[in-house]
Amino acid sequence: MSIDLTDQVHIITGAGRGIGLETARRIAQAGGLPIMIARSAEQVEQEAARLRDEGLEAQAHALDITDADGCKALIKQVRDDHGRIDGLVNNAGANLVANLLMCKESTWGPIFDVNVFALMRLTQLCLKPMVRAKYGRIVNVSSIAAKLGAPYNTIYSASKAAVEGFTRSLALEVAKLGITVNAVAPAQVDTDLLRQGMSVRSKMAGKDTEEYIQSIVEANPQQRLLTPADVAGTIMHLLSPATSGVTGQSWNVCGGVA
Ligand SMILES: NC(=O)c1ccc[n+]([C@@H]2O[C@H](COP(=O)([O-])OP(=O)(O)OC[C@H]3O[C@@H](n4cnc5c(N)ncnc54)[C@H](OP(=O)(O)O)[C@@H]3O)[C@@H](O)[C@H]2O)c1
Repeated sequence: MSIDLTDQVHIITGAGRGIGLETARRIAQAGGLPIMIARSAEQVEQEAARLRDEGLEAQAHALDITDADGCKALIKQVRDDHGRIDGLVNNAGANLVANLLMCKESTWGPIFDVNVFALMRLTQLCLKPMVRAKYGRIVNVSSIAAKLGAPYNTIYSASKAAVEGFTRSLALEVAKLGITVNAVAPAQVDTDLLRQGMSVRSKMAGKDTEEYIQSIVEANPQQRLLTPADVAGTIMHLLSPATSGVTGQSWNVCGGVA
């Protein structure tokens, strides 16, 4: 299926690397303008410049999405500059691998700040122009951990379960307005976030990180880690104007593990 996003403007959080970067690239290749957000200015600007060097459109913005005023200012700027927001991919996320008994309460808030509250804030900000245009595509990056659970991932799983509930409820709220709201729920995807988590898990299990990752690969029916391309490809379907009848769904991208 060829996906055409010509002239469209899409906001992607966490677009400096991993799943977000691959999604931004595909949006640009489909003719859209990806507005790429991440905290590390150098990384996100370099990646946007790389896309522009390939003749594609891309804009980078260094922003911590937990900064409410920064989010408001950025969305206002996008609306002033382009007059439209066609899509929002809430992808940026924070992970916490910890035994709940050892886990300090002070570590919980920052996970929810990124995975839940920033996602809700950006969705609210982007929804206004979408309602006005009677068109919009919102895709939230959840996790298979929200559905299956994962040991030592209680806080993270709880935050992603909140994303699932938010997705379903908002989809119903805006269903008549030409706006779709969906989630993707990946299993283990080979990114920095995964490798950081696996390094903590392997220490807890007294294993070498690569050996630990190999055990994840062997447990997956496809005998591999998922890739950012696997997830970005799925997100692109949900961003497509053609996918107008799919809303309130959460698509697993898991190699069959769930
Ligand atoms: N990898 C997996 O196995 C896996 C599985 C299930 C779900 N997921 C979900 O997939 C999403 C993307 O993860 P990934 O694996 O692609 O991670 P990644 O490679 O570590 O990339 C995360 C991106 O988010 C940005 N980011 C993090 N916190 C941010 C903040 N407060 N404000 C703005 N940008 C922020 C990071 O850049 P800066 O650090 O520069 O800000 C980076 O660009 C997350 O929601 C994650 O929970 C991942």
